[in-house]
Amino acid sequence: MILQKLLFVFYTSSLFWKNNLCADNRKFPSDFKFGVATASYQVEGAWNADGKGENIWDHLTHSQPHLVKDNSTGDIACDAYHNSKEDLALLEDLGVDFYHFSLSWARILPTGYTDGPVNEAGVKYYANILSELEKRKIEAVITLFHWDMPQKLQDDFGGLLNDTFIDVFASYAQLAFRLFGSRVKYWITFNEPFIMCQHGFENARKAPAITKAPGIDLYTCGHVVLKAHAKTYRIYDKLYRKTQKGRIAIALDTDWFEPASADPKDLEAAERFLQFQFGWFAHPLVFGNYPQVMIDRIEERSKKEGFKTSRLPEFTKKEIDEIKGTFDFIGLNHYTSTLAKWREDIAIGKPESSKDLSVSVSKDSSWEGSASSWLKVVPWGLRKIAKWIKDTYKNPEIMIAENGYSDPGGILNDSRRINYYREYLSNVLKAIYDDGVNITAYTAWSFMDNFEWLEGYTQKFGLYSVNFSDPERPRTPKSSVNFYKNVIRTRCLVDRCL
Ligand code: NOJ
Repeated sequence: MILQKLLFVFYTSSLFWKNNLCADNRKFPSDFKFGVATASYQVEGAWNADGKGENIWDHLTHSQPHLVKDNSTGDIACDAYHNSKEDLALLEDLGVDFYHFSLSWARILPTGYTDGPVNEAGVKYYANILSELEKRKIEAVITLFHWDMPQKLQDDFGGLLNDTFIDVFASYAQLAFRLFGSRVKYWITFNEPFIMCQHGFENARKAPAITKAPGIDLYTCGHVVLKAHAKTYRIYDKLYRKTQKGRIAIALDTDWFEPASADPKDLEAAERFLQFQFGWFAHPLVFGNYPQVMIDRIEERSKKEGFKTSRLPEFTKKEIDEIKGTFDFIGLNHYTSTLAKWREDIAIGKPESSKDLSVSVSKDSSWEGSASSWLKVVPWGLRKIAKWIKDTYKNPEIMIAENGYSDPGGILNDSRRINYYREYLSNVLKAIYDDGVNITAYTAWSFMDNFEWLEGYTQKFGLYSVNFSDPERPRTPKSSVNFYKNVIRTRCLVDRCL
């Protein structure tokens, strides 16, 4: 009898640990918000329907199809453009507090310019989504620019490499505020400028995939983005905030960089990477200028390379004043961690941003993988990056604007994704309650499987699976839908919270 009882206790407690792992059993604050995200080019499809203009992703996938792993495009993608009714029903069923999506600039302004034609069908598409969200009491978090620049702006003046972009973007943003602002409380100007500028202009992993000037163009791009962001923020502040009562920010991506050893040099390497990735954009927003380590290293190398001035552009005093403080919260896109190891500086030669940074990176072999080589499951990294942001940038409010896990697809019983979400969310709780980080919202990437840029449809991040060989693009919930639904409903990660 005693043995039986002991066995039972052992069995039930092992089940507890199996099912709950070490998930935190505290409740999320009652005003904490949960959402899901998508981005226009990745889900909408309808690439040339109803007057939409061409954008740089249409252009890239059509002109250089070999760049995409499965030679696919976002021409149809999830066909979200024709499926909003069904998608809104799914969002309602999921019970999310908000839906984070982006506007396709060229669907609203086919040429990109506000003095060009406004595409009424595009405006109607987003206006309808917004009113349907409102009916369902789901808030909208809108990203103005998730990488799909109207092609005409790329052709006319080189897009993100030209200061002309700043006013053109600000006018587009203003149009969006005028059209939709009364129903939007959260605006994000740019998604992941680090990835956008580095992949767009340094290593051709994203459109426009121009690599004419490594070590130069990506910094120009970052400079233009920061000025366009600041201008837009100031306009919102001055003309729209009072009546529309929204908040505006930028979404920055970063890994957590864990020092490869306790050697102070590795600590320095890890910190340097954080500064070169997150600090590149966060530092100007909080303090007005780039991180000192970026300024110093890039200037020193530029001079040795024979440049008269640093390859990292300088802000004028006026620009510093304009940029400083232009955020109401910080959008954090975080997926994974990386080990950082100090290395000798690379010899002076052709400029390259990785030489400016000069840190050796690797992944710990014990970290669980995913379908994306860069994405290892390191839940505690989220807690560390959140705490680092709190300590480095004066405790800003943080919205986790993206976080998620990829598999190769075809897996409806996605227990690994559930485990990822549970463990990462557990670390959100620890960051909030144990470290005092001001995290107010969490966004699962992604609402549904979609076009993963140059990986095409080979890496799936969705809560809902999409059948891409069926013209109707039917959506099917994965097991993670039930898990997330439950978390949202109970605000709790385990069977019962404290
Ligand atoms: C970040 C990007 O914003 C999104 O477009 C992408 O699909 C996910 N990360 C996953 O890589």
